[in-house]
Amino acid sequence: MCGIVAYTGYRDAYPILIKGLKRLEYRGYDSAGVALLNGKLHVYKKKGKVSELEDFIGEKTPSGTIGVGHTRWATHGEPNDTNAHPHYSASGNLALIHNGIIENYNVIKQDLLQKGYTFKSETDSEVLVNFIEDIQKQAKCSLPEAVRLALQKVVGAYAIVLISEKNPRQLIAARKGSPLVIGIGKGEYFIASDATPIIEYTNEVVYLDDLEVAIIEDDKLSIKNLDAIVKQPYIQTLDLELEAIEKGGYEHFMLKEIFEQPKSVADSLRGRVNSKQGSLLLGGLTEYMNRLKTAERIIFVACGTSWHAALVAEYLFEELTRIPVEVEYASEFRYRNPIIKENDVVIAISQSGETADTLAAIELAKSKGAIILGVCNVVGSSIPRATHAGAYIHAGPEIGVASTKAFTGQITVLAMMALSIAHRRGTITESFFHEMLVEMENIPSKIEKALTTNGQIQEISAIFKNARNFLYLGRGFNFPVALEGALKLKEISYIHAEGYPAAEMKHGPIALIDEEMPVVFVATNDSSYEKIISNIQEVKARKGKVIAIVTEGDKLISKMADYTIEIPACNEMLVPLLSVIPLQLLSYHIAVLRGCNVDQPRNLAKSVTVE
Ligand code: G6P
Repeated sequence: MCGIVAYTGYRDAYPILIKGLKRLEYRGYDSAGVALLNGKLHVYKKKGKVSELEDFIGEKTPSGTIGVGHTRWATHGEPNDTNAHPHYSASGNLALIHNGIIENYNVIKQDLLQKGYTFKSETDSEVLVNFIEDIQKQAKCSLPEAVRLALQKVVGAYAIVLISEKNPRQLIAARKGSPLVIGIGKGEYFIASDATPIIEYTNEVVYLDDLEVAIIEDDKLSIKNLDAIVKQPYIQTLDLELEAIEKGGYEHFMLKEIFEQPKSVADSLRGRVNSKQGSLLLGGLTEYMNRLKTAERIIFVACGTSWHAALVAEYLFEELTRIPVEVEYASEFRYRNPIIKENDVVIAISQSGETADTLAAIELAKSKGAIILGVCNVVGSSIPRATHAGAYIHAGPEIGVASTKAFTGQITVLAMMALSIAHRRGTITESFFHEMLVEMENIPSKIEKALTTNGQIQEISAIFKNARNFLYLGRGFNFPVALEGALKLKEISYIHAEGYPAAEMKHGPIALIDEEMPVVFVATNDSSYEKIISNIQEVKARKGKVIAIVTEGDKLISKMADYTIEIPACNEMLVPLLSVIPLQLLSYHIAVLRGCNVDQPRNLAKSVTVE
């Protein structure tokens, strides 16, 4: 959480920082601030969104060719002007921006208080900047050295950038557990939490590793780790187009990303599935395919929407590969003492590749000797670098806070993994394998068709936009889809929604059903079709309003349901890729009609880098 951006070079830094912060706003939008150096160090900060900071600064656009910017997701201290970053040090010489949590900040703060330091904010970040200043004073060392010494004593997670009035040509950055990318231009450098603020200027980047300190001074980048060992910067060329991070004519990123799914799923499949050749290849996993083939158990760890994708994977992997699967919330897994055996494989799923709980679960599983694979979207992020191997979903940047195309990308990759393992294990026939390859290649055009329900869903949304509760029900492969539909609605429209396995309804949620209660059934024509029809009747008997997602041409359910939305037929195992589309659209339209901020829902952040 929190977005960081910094610049040093020959251009005016302020517009670069503001534009960068807007691109990073998905990481938090409680407050925003910038610090610029122009002879003197000036800090401007304001509660609220980046646009509020801009309004606050108004015409007095600050000048300077070196500066830092921050957009905050509050952890220590409420969102207000004082707690906003950047934070000055006591002398006013340093300004620091920070993403993460300094867990031992209170001990450090007490020590500094005894030395006479005073603090304006309630943040751990203000403690850190003063700690660095104090160490520099005591050790009489250079600023980069003081940063290194201070960070050796810090417990917790951080990505920081620091500027100093006394060293106006120097930017210092460091990370542990929170991402930082350094963009290398000609005579200029950029630093950011992800590549989106950088890509417009350069595609040459260096990903800083944990426990590394980067110093940019006099047009030179040098990196040292906390043990003072010099590291050679590894420059990578990014394959990211500017248009991929812009709205492209859509009102919201979320809508753009929903409509991008025919392409993003095709991108996930590209170069991997080829039904004509009967081949399925996940390059990043080749080395571990035998390990997967002989796995005695597969454990998925994930959070949020990625956890729902993991649940779909449980159905897919067990059905196709006959390997037992467990699905774990990363936050629970990391705090118990899970049993991991030699032949288990752990698969971490994450859009951002930065989720703190998922990263911690990976470290725990690693410490127990497990093989860890990753299914991530953001290339070069922390999880792909922490795992032994993995497969990217290649969905392109997902900026809307509510995850949409990442979910379908994850399921696509997980389905490919399950099929490939099953094929090697001989748990599926050659002809079924081939049939599924064809089915997968047809998914993008079927998603295209599912998207044509948009107008109908907009009308249904207008009818239910004021509902106070929603229930989402599904069975089998559609059970995780029901969970995901409910999560989407909660996240962006603030309507209470619950997802349930349809048959479990009678063990509790049925008590909630009356004529006020919309119930969304994900009721495609699959192996549990008859059973779910009984569940629909149970709801209708209690006067609930039924919105049903059905397979095109369905005659039965349309007679029972109040509203039916048709999606194309496909193999039951891939149906979540289609049945989730109307649910994404439903939550989107309801949220828009309720006047909610769809791309930046309250209290949420896209990348949760704190536990
Ligand atoms: C946050 C986001 C969700 C996301 C979850 C897991 O809560 O708002 O959309 O599903 O984190 O994130 P990850 O990046 O690990 O998939």
